[in-house]
Amino acid sequence: MEQAITLTRHILEGQKAHPGATGEFSALLTQIALAGKRISFELSRAGLLGKTGLTGGTNIHGEAVKELDQISNDIFVDCFEYLDLVSMVVSEEMDTAASLKGKSKTGKYSLYIDPMDGSSNIEINESLGSIFSIQKNTNGAETEKDLLHKGSDQLTAGYLMYGPCTMLVIAYNNQVHGFTLDMGLGEFILTHPNIRIPSRGKIISLNAGNASKWDKGLQNYLKYTQEQTEKEKLFSYRYSGTFVSDFHRILLKGGTFLYPGEVKKPEGKLRLLYEVAPLGFVCEAAGGKASTGKERVLDIQPTEIHQHVPVIIGSAENVDEILTYLSH
Ligand code: AHG
Ligand code: MN
Ligand code: MN
Repeated sequence: MEQAITLTRHILEGQKAHPGATGEFSALLTQIALAGKRISFELSRAGLLGKTGLTGGTNIHGEAVKELDQISNDIFVDCFEYLDLVSMVVSEEMDTAASLKGKSKTGKYSLYIDPMDGSSNIEINESLGSIFSIQKNTNGAETEKDLLHKGSDQLTAGYLMYGPCTMLVIAYNNQVHGFTLDMGLGEFILTHPNIRIPSRGKIISLNAGNASKWDKGLQNYLKYTQEQTEKEKLFSYRYSGTFVSDFHRILLKGGTFLYPGEVKKPEGKLRLLYEVAPLGFVCEAAGGKASTGKERVLDIQPTEIHQHVPVIIGSAENVDEILTYLSH
């Protein structure tokens, strides 16, 4: 049997192909993978140990923090604290950016995380995720203002998905690769090399319960998809409530995920720096598109670290079609 390509081997071979490589990128990915393995392990026991509840605290978005939100956040920080490459961490679960300075000698990179995505699904044993993004600090990063980089500047971004098996999907150098965790070996194995999103797909992923609050154009699009489905089964609706899992389905099968703004809340729910921009980066690297409805996600100049943005993301033809429905 051909030898499996582990994440480590994949990284080392990539490094060999770039003679000037410093090994820093490899070190960063190794820590992401370690965080993923540790979180996956915690999730596998959380139900047994009664760790699926709330901490009693509230995050900056006004959401009740779950124990696993906190545990996952602490695991990511811990994995990067002893690596002297990351100076600042922005997280959904930390009101302000955490400085790892002092511990970081070079401070060359900043990390952005949604440590536990889909946390409302924790107690029902539904698929969950973690989202990450890494930016290079051109002039060092001292303050939160220094962390407001466009999505197009991301060095790498991706996600961990904790489903029936744990997967790591990474985008860099305009390519997307998927790895599956072999629990026996404790290694991520390359199972989905060079993922390309279909140019069109049937799946629509959205919370239709919010439709009455959307822009009329988008309501018309929803009506169109329902009519088309009655006639020719052109569309199929799927929504889990975990952005990572819903996006992963779209990435592999094609279609669109939408979390639009509402007329009274135009900024939508999802967060730019650690949810929408990283998955936008993955989507584009796989040949898809990500838009707010008004502009390309990766072109947005962030104004604050916890900023929210609306998102329409997925197969290029589907996203383009939706944009023609929106009122401008
Ligand atoms: P998080 O658990 O990190 O707060 O993210 C939840 C997000 C996202 O994963 C999902 O797509 C969306 O919230 C679901 O929101 P609704 O329940 O409003 O549909
Ligand atoms: Mn999330
Ligand atoms: Mn989260």
